[in-house]
Amino acid sequence: MTTAIYPGSFDPLTFGHIDIIERSARLFDNVIVSILINAQKAPLFSVDERTELMRQILKPRFRNVEVDVFHGLLVDYARQKKAQVIVRGIRAVTDYEYEFQMALMNRRLSPDIETVFMMPAEKYSYLSSRLVKEIAELGGSVSGLVPDIVEKRLVQRFKKEK
Ligand code: PNS
Repeated sequence: MTTAIYPGSFDPLTFGHIDIIERSARLFDNVIVSILINAQKAPLFSVDERTELMRQILKPRFRNVEVDVFHGLLVDYARQKKAQVIVRGIRAVTDYEYEFQMALMNRRLSPDIETVFMMPAEKYSYLSSRLVKEIAELGGSVSGLVPDIVEKRLVQRFKKEK
């Protein structure tokens, strides 16, 4: 049985993330999509909100995918979950430098855990949570970039802030 961890901020979950989750769910027996609890970053959606949203979206779509949260070192968490693989999505060359550093640092910390990179469908290669938030905040449409419930939450959130 191969267990893969797909870690990230997922603030919020986009169709790009779902594309990577779908590919991972086909390749691995179990996929744990894990949200980083990061005290240094002020997220738009709380960890609880993201967990709830992601479970709502992912549970009906994939039978071998679960949503979890983690803090501390990713490799410690992966070991605790008995995961052999870390999945990361890579969109463009610009992602490469950061991902390369992280993958090799994680390998140094835990040589038995392998990082696997996947490319999303081309139509998502320019999509990021950061841009989705910016567009939504400025009143633009993020339809087709995130699931409907995420879009609704974004609209609500920015309406509240005004
Ligand atoms: O979605 P993101 O923000 O690009 O995800 C980054 C993430 C969560 C994969 C990375 O920040 C991480 O693994 N953080 C946990 C702390 C850790 O293990 N740091 C050392 C990495 S070499």
